[in-house]
Amino acid sequence: MNKNEIASFAETIALNAGKIISKGFRSKSISISYKSRTNIVTNIDKESEKYLFNSIKDQYPDHTVIAEEGSRREREGEFIWYVDPLDATNNYAHGIPYFCISIGIYSIVEQRSIIGIVYDPFHKEMFKGIYGQGAFLNGDIIEVSRIDDIGISILATGFPYDKTDPKSNNLDEFNAILPCVQGARRMGSAALDLSYVACGRFDGYWEPGLFPWDMAAGSIIVEEAGGKVTKYNGDPFDPECPEIAASNSRIHKELLTCLCRS
Ligand code: IPD
Ligand code: CA
Ligand code: CA
Repeated sequence: MNKNEIASFAETIALNAGKIISKGFRSKSISISYKSRTNIVTNIDKESEKYLFNSIKDQYPDHTVIAEEGSRREREGEFIWYVDPLDATNNYAHGIPYFCISIGIYSIVEQRSIIGIVYDPFHKEMFKGIYGQGAFLNGDIIEVSRIDDIGISILATGFPYDKTDPKSNNLDEFNAILPCVQGARRMGSAALDLSYVACGRFDGYWEPGLFPWDMAAGSIIVEEAGGKVTKYNGDPFDPECPEIAASNSRIHKELLTCLCRS
């Protein structure tokens, strides 16, 4: 299976889903429903997912597809497509222009993500990572930042929808990290946060409580841009494990030290 061919198909469908999302943005056509009191979904998430799911299914009948809003197709083949049809629905529904489509392709044989596509349709930014081939933004090579002192770094994070349990709401980690860094941001899209680490806008990122569709694409984009992605204890990253620590690699040890202290 040719990785470049799959990546190029994934880019095309991300661009098309971007058109669906852009058309709805800040329009009266958005309707919101509640998955829980704090977790929303819109008709646009569903429309984007339907388009992406059907396109992948038709093009690659033997690939597994797992998408956030419930579309599932299990196959025996090597590849799993993790699809977030609209990452940062909250931003989108509030008219805040920081959201994306995230498509990560995981190889069961290689036990890792091999392709990551993250497309921000508002800013027309297409982030791509292909295992062994590098990371790109709109076709140009990108690299992580060179900062090697966490004290002058800017990190991003996010908080789970259910913030009531103090053990899992990320506040202990946030409290441990905030005094050690220059700045912290909560932008609202895990996939874009990771892409921003990849292109050096952020120096690092951590978050608990995520799903494979939030991380599978962004994690390989960071790695291919020269960064490091692990679990909080430094073990190899696994998209099925809900926590992620990503950085430009130079501040990774310090980031993990703060996370373990929390
Ligand atoms: C969410 C975003 C957010 C993160 C949440 C995710 P969604 O995804 O990535 O940044 O903090 O944990 O669930 O629900 O908007 O696709
Ligand atoms: Ca998401
Ligand atoms: Ca989503």
